[in-house]
Amino acid sequence: MSLKRLPGELTEQEELSSMIRVNHAGEYGAKRIYEGQLAALKGSSCVPTIKHMKDQEQVHLDYFSNELVNRRIRPTLLSPLWHAGGFLLGYATGFLGEKVAMACTVAVEDVIDQHYEEQEERLKTFKAPEQDLKNKIAQFRAEELEHKETGLHHGAEDTPGYKLLTTGIKNITKLAIFLSKRL
Ligand SMILES: [Fe+2]
Ligand SMILES: [Fe+2]
Repeated sequence: MSLKRLPGELTEQEELSSMIRVNHAGEYGAKRIYEGQLAALKGSSCVPTIKHMKDQEQVHLDYFSNELVNRRIRPTLLSPLWHAGGFLLGYATGFLGEKVAMACTVAVEDVIDQHYEEQEERLKTFKAPEQDLKNKIAQFRAEELEHKETGLHHGAEDTPGYKLLTTGIKNITKLAIFLSKRL
């Protein structure tokens, strides 16, 4: 006899699909943030640093794009919003200056670090081994933490209103994650 699932309870497969969908959305949003910052910060000394982070986001994004195709998972319905919203967040923070751009990176990566950590813990409880996925999440998480360190190293915390700004960006990022898990 199979146990009846409670409403709102996901199977392992459904949960995996949701994880890959939200990670794909997040990595896409991250890439768009850096694209927006690069558009606003042309000629700034931090361009190579931001480009390097953007290239890493592209690797993360390519991995989850492939997983979407291979596992036949549909992308989030909110993709157009992350396309525009990510770029806008990047452009606005870049427009306000290098340090504001770096504060944005610190805020976003802080939330992503927690998000990947939660997934790592969750995946440990799964019956399916999913070793490759676990390895990639661990690798990407380490790189997101590097981005956060880079932001701090470039004076993110010197931004006027740092606390308010990063709290706002963290809340936007959390909302984006919340919605992309569900839509
Ligand atoms: Fe990433
Ligand atoms: Fe990142």
